[in-house]
Amino acid sequence: MNKFTLSTIVENKALSSDVYLITVKLPFRIDAKPGQFCILRVNGRLDPLLGRPFSIFDLEGETVKFLYRIKGKGTKILSEMKENEKISFIGPLGKWYPYPEGNFLVVAGGIGIASVYYLIKKFPERAIVFYGVRLKNEIFFFEEIKKFAKEIYVSTEEGEFGYKGVITELFQNKAKNLDLPIYACGPMLMIKELKKIVNDRKCYVAVEERMACGVGACLGCVINTVNGLKRVCTDGAVFELRELIL
Ligand SMILES: Cc1cc2nc3c(=O)[nH]c(=O)nc-3n(C[C@H](O)[C@H](O)[C@H](O)COP(=O)(O)OP(=O)(O)OC[C@H]3O[C@@H](n4cnc5c(N)ncnc54)[C@H](O)[C@@H]3O)c2cc1C
Ligand code: FES
Repeated sequence: MNKFTLSTIVENKALSSDVYLITVKLPFRIDAKPGQFCILRVNGRLDPLLGRPFSIFDLEGETVKFLYRIKGKGTKILSEMKENEKISFIGPLGKWYPYPEGNFLVVAGGIGIASVYYLIKKFPERAIVFYGVRLKNEIFFFEEIKKFAKEIYVSTEEGEFGYKGVITELFQNKAKNLDLPIYACGPMLMIKELKKIVNDRKCYVAVEERMACGVGACLGCVINTVNGLKRVCTDGAVFELRELIL
């Protein structure tokens, strides 16, 4: 589906001062897979003209949820939108996380949980989840993740909840030697640390890059890989970590 379609906001709820969960109802069912994303554009506005990409957080029939953090102008405007307002979207876009055959490891940093939640939910009691945040109040959907996951480990930077430190340390302590595929999304610093730990193991990462067209036409989202330049919007956003030059 590569053209903008109007959807209706069912709910746009603040979960903290800067993190929101928006639920939109589409005019039809979509068959999206974990790791794919949509582009949301505030209907009828020219500023900001471009849409913004968001991972599919959860999906049931025609109803899609996106978990997002306010970063700049576009996400601020999005956070101010109300129930029953219309919003344009394109999606689902991009590659998805290859489906795991058995148990699997998940490493999520901060709002990166938005990209992997649907994967954890889709394969119940198979994910061993490592979820790192700065502060305890930045942990979202803990009870739901606990319900769907096989195991969950949390880290906070000051140790307010779970392990004290960053999530890659906890992952290294507990799961470094587990021979399971890894699915990760989070800040670039986390991805770089993870790359040092996992070396050449199977690790799939959803990359967040600035986007313009979202459909492969503008080359505004290219990243460097061992196989040359790749477009995040169409060649990704999910890549194998060993492919990325960070
Ligand atoms: C495939 C994909 C999926 C994404 N999924 C989610 C999601 O589920 N939840 C979520 O909160 N965010 C997600 N993002 C990031 C989100 O798209 C950006 O935060 C958003 O576009 C920022 O728009 P803005 O107008 O608010 O900020 P802008 O005003 O455009 O920018 C504000 C600041 O944020 C930086 N920035 C903007 N976009 C990005 C980006 N993509 N990566 C890193 N820095 C950026 C800018 O350089 C600037 O410093 C995703 C990005 C991609 C590419
Ligand atoms: S955003 Fe235009 S090519 Fe990717």
